[in-house]
Amino acid sequence: MSGSLFRKKPLPSQSDAIHHTKLHKVLNVRDLTALGIAAIIGAGSFSSLGEACFKGGPGVVILFVITGIACGFTALCYAEFASRIPLSGSAYTYAYVSFGELAAWIIGWALLMEYSIGNIYVAFSWSDYFTSLLERVHIHIPDYLSCSYMEAQKAILNHSNNQELINAWNGAPVIGGLKIIFDLPAIIINILITLLVYIGVKESKNFSNIMVALKLFVVLLVIIVGAMYLNTANWFPINESGVSAFMPNGFTGVMSAVSGVFFAYIGFDAISVFAEESKDPQKDLPRGMIYSLVICTVIYILLALVLTGALNYKQFDGIGDPLAYIFEVKNNAWMQLIVSFIAVVAMTSVLLVFQMGQPRIWLSMSRDGLLPEAFQRIHPKFLTPSFATIVTGLVVGVPILFTDKTFVLDFTSIATIFAFVLVCGGILLIPRKEKISGRFQLTYINGKYLFPLLVMVTFFLISFLFPDYFKNLMVFNGVDQTIKISSLIYWILLIVMAFFAFMRDLSLIPLLGVSSCAYLLTGMTASNWAWFSSWLLVGLMVYFLYGYKRSKLREMDND
Ligand code: ALA
Repeated sequence: MSGSLFRKKPLPSQSDAIHHTKLHKVLNVRDLTALGIAAIIGAGSFSSLGEACFKGGPGVVILFVITGIACGFTALCYAEFASRIPLSGSAYTYAYVSFGELAAWIIGWALLMEYSIGNIYVAFSWSDYFTSLLERVHIHIPDYLSCSYMEAQKAILNHSNNQELINAWNGAPVIGGLKIIFDLPAIIINILITLLVYIGVKESKNFSNIMVALKLFVVLLVIIVGAMYLNTANWFPINESGVSAFMPNGFTGVMSAVSGVFFAYIGFDAISVFAEESKDPQKDLPRGMIYSLVICTVIYILLALVLTGALNYKQFDGIGDPLAYIFEVKNNAWMQLIVSFIAVVAMTSVLLVFQMGQPRIWLSMSRDGLLPEAFQRIHPKFLTPSFATIVTGLVVGVPILFTDKTFVLDFTSIATIFAFVLVCGGILLIPRKEKISGRFQLTYINGKYLFPLLVMVTFFLISFLFPDYFKNLMVFNGVDQTIKISSLIYWILLIVMAFFAFMRDLSLIPLLGVSSCAYLLTGMTASNWAWFSSWLLVGLMVYFLYGYKRSKLREMDND
């Protein structure tokens, strides 16, 4: 049994690669950078940024830098895989080649979070901006039809100041003892997007360039106009101890914003698939990814500084449309209107991309025998994966009724970071190869001495700067020990990786990718881990009940 669980797909042969490079090589570094920005900027910047500022205060900018670096290393690992494995399926296929079938299934299962559950978050955010836009033209959707049940309930339980959520709870009609509260615009946009994907809408390069221009225009506008409202005192708000601080909730507060911040970066992995369509992939692909990540990191830092400088960070409690909200508070109706309008358009394109990506991954999994054949069904007229598209619509649409933004954000981020850790780890497992001219290859820097040295330097630096840090990690008191436990596990992981780096001359960049992404996981709460573990457990059950027996590789092995 263990043999089949870890059975790997063979790396595609040279002839596969040559066949694949017949694709038109049209993309230059500018196109790749634009594609990166198109995929990255979406609900994260338009929406989750608000909650991130509320949790971390102005200090959340530090987390944007850390996350940008972690994503940079991961992007390079994605590029390496994409150039070696010219097959669809993204990280799922990469894991099949490097770790084997079980890990591939787990990644495919985790990617369901990135694509489908992530889209629930985008749909909620779309609705926040859409209702804000309608308000500007004096159309009011009742509060109980423009937020989720869980959100309104939590607002009441936590004595939130968010008046819209309180109104939603208090004003909702009651049927059979149940308050009728759900996000109607989020449901409607999901139905429309599913229909569009079903009939086969295509995102052209021109369309995506217009989207990038619009997104950049609106964020730059927010930064420039928002800067006029800056009050530098807001960058050092008074914390609970009465001291003014850049990180009013400490570094723990900053790390608690990790889901929202990480979500804002998701999407760069999508451009790795253009490896073979780049004019000069060796140079342009990593550059395109790094440029788009650097541009977005700078934008995010500026946005976070403007938001937390224009208003006190506490004002972002429960705010789903922060970029428009600052102008609502400052009574700048025009800016509120422009920002809401462009946000609605821009997030529609994000919804489309993710809703199209999910059926494609399921298609690959179904071809490998891990999902039923229905997922390969192609519509005779529209030539789209019809069944997989409808299932995606349901997977996004139904939970809109039962979940809330925070929940789906945490769920999406923990699963995607987990997938990123495996992608970087996967690079360490596949054999190094000779350089092939014109193809992207991750620069090999021997981590034998460098990585253990970096771990030691970090250890001594932390001990020097925060003398009690390691002592405190060993003391288990207080309510939530999750951060301490995950930090301890993190340090153990670093030591194990340093050992293997030394023994096996492992490559430095993927080592840094694993360690920086795994670090982001230390910001997750106990309930995030509980939900994610349960999700994985369900995934394992599905695999053993279905995929394990029907896997194509297993069948080939038995022949
Ligand atoms: N990064 C993408 C967004 O923020 C997923 O919408």
